[in-house]
Amino acid sequence: MPLAPELDRFLADNDARIHDELFEFLRIPSVSARSEHRQDTVRAAEWLAARMRDVGLTTEVVPTDGHPIVIGEWRKAGDGAPTVLIYGHYDVQPAEPLELWESPPFEPTVRHGRIYARGAVDDKGQLYLHVKALEAHLRTRGTLPINVVVLAEGEEEIGSPNLANFVETQAKRLGCDAVVISDSSMFAPGLPSILSSLRGLTYLQIDVQGAAVDLHSGSYGGAVINPATALARIIATFHDEHLRVAIPGFYDKVREWTPDARKRIQALPFDEGKFRDEVGAPSLGGEDGQSTLERIWTRPTCEINGLLSGYTGEGAKTVLPAAAMAKVSCRLVPDQDPDDIATLVRAHVERVAPPGVTVTIRALHGGRPWRADLQGPLYDAARRALTAAFGKEPVIVGEGGSIPVVGDFERILGAPVLLVGFGLPGENAHAPNEWMSEENFVKGTRAIAALWDEMAVPRNPS
Ligand code: BES
Ligand code: ZN
Repeated sequence: MPLAPELDRFLADNDARIHDELFEFLRIPSVSARSEHRQDTVRAAEWLAARMRDVGLTTEVVPTDGHPIVIGEWRKAGDGAPTVLIYGHYDVQPAEPLELWESPPFEPTVRHGRIYARGAVDDKGQLYLHVKALEAHLRTRGTLPINVVVLAEGEEEIGSPNLANFVETQAKRLGCDAVVISDSSMFAPGLPSILSSLRGLTYLQIDVQGAAVDLHSGSYGGAVINPATALARIIATFHDEHLRVAIPGFYDKVREWTPDARKRIQALPFDEGKFRDEVGAPSLGGEDGQSTLERIWTRPTCEINGLLSGYTGEGAKTVLPAAAMAKVSCRLVPDQDPDDIATLVRAHVERVAPPGVTVTIRALHGGRPWRADLQGPLYDAARRALTAAFGKEPVIVGEGGSIPVVGDFERILGAPVLLVGFGLPGENAHAPNEWMSEENFVKGTRAIAALWDEMAVPRNPS
C-alpha cells in the first residue's frame, strides 16, 4: 500500500525544518577515534536525545567507559503490537585529510542534490531519518503501530568496544521482535536494497622491534636484523600466488554460499568497468576463481591497513630502523569467529617470524560476520514499504563492510535483523567529501514511515 496520506503530507510540509535539524546534527564533530572530540560526542548524544524527546520518546543518555549510548523509548502500542529495536551510530570517522574536502566536513553543504558532510550518510543522516519517521507517526496520529526502542551508540567507528556488554546486561529492556538498521547503501540509484550479509572483522597490530634505537645503516647494516625487512617477510606470507589467504586454518570454518545466493549475485546489474573506474586502480584483482562481487561479499580477506617504519621524509637518510609496525585486518564470513582468527594469525606470525627481532601481536577489535535468509513477515513488510517509497521492488545485496553489533543482536536478542540502507555507491564514506543524496534521505524517511504501518498489518499465514 502507498504511504498513508497524512504521513506523506507531514513529511512534505516539514521538509525544510527536518533538513535544518539534520544540518545541526552534522555540524557536531562527533569523531569517536579522537580524544580531543570527547565533548563533541557527548554533545551529539545529548542533542540526539533532546530531538527524540521532542517527538515524544522517553530518553536516557547512558555513560560508558567510552562514548555515551543514547536510548529512546516509546512503548504505548501495547502487548499485541510488535516491538522494534532501531540501531544506529552518531559517531563519525575522522575527517582528515581536510585539504581534500571541497567544503568543510562539519559545515553541511548541498551541491547537486547531495548533502556533503562527514557523517552525512555514515550514519547521522540515516539514523536521523528514523527519528523523523517516528515523528511523522506521532505528530499526525498521536500514536505508533509498534513499540520502539532506539539505540544509538557513539563508538561504532572504533569497533563498538562497549556495546556487546551493554546489550548483554540490558537484554531484557532491548528485547524485541525485530531489529532495524539503516547504515548501508543501495546497490544503485533508484534501486532500494536489503542486505543479506555483512562481513565480520578481526583487527590486529603487529610490532617488530630490533635494536634499541635507530642505527647507522652503514656501521651496523648487515650485522643487525632489519625489523622493516622482517615485517615485510612476515606479511608476504599472508597470501599465496592465487591471492588466497595462506594462514593455516583460515578457511576451515567458511560456510559455502548456496547456488541460489550465487545466482542472485550474478543477476544484479553490476558494471565491472564502471566499478574499476570509480576505484581508479589500473586493474581489479583478488582471490582466483571469484567474481568481484563474490570477492567483496562472500569471501574473507586479510588486508594490510597501515605500515610504518624507518625514514619516510624528504630525500635520503641511511638508517637501520629500530622498529616496524603493521595494522592488519581480516574481513570474515560466516562461520569464522573473530577470536579464532586472531589466534590463527598470531600462531602463523610467530611461526614465520625470522629470528633476531621481537614480534608482538595485539588484537585491537573485532566483530562477527552475519548472514540472513530474509524469510518472514519483517522482510515481507520491508519489501512492501520500499516498493511504496521508491516505486521499485528492492534487490537483495551483500556487503563487504562490518557493523560489529549485528551478530551480537542476533545472538543475544534472538530477533531477526533488517538492514536497509539509503546510501549510494561513490558516497565517500570514511573519505573526503562524504555525501548523502537528498532524494534518498527523503525517500528513506518515507520508506521507514511506511514500514511501521506495513509491520502492523495482519497477514494471513502463507
Ligand atoms: N556504515 C559502515 C558499515 C558499512 C560499510 C556498511 C560499507 C555498508 C557499506 C560502518 O559505519 C563501518 O564503517 N563499519 C566499520 C566497522 C569497523 C570500524 C569495526 C567497517 O566496516 O570498517
Ligand atoms: Zn563507518
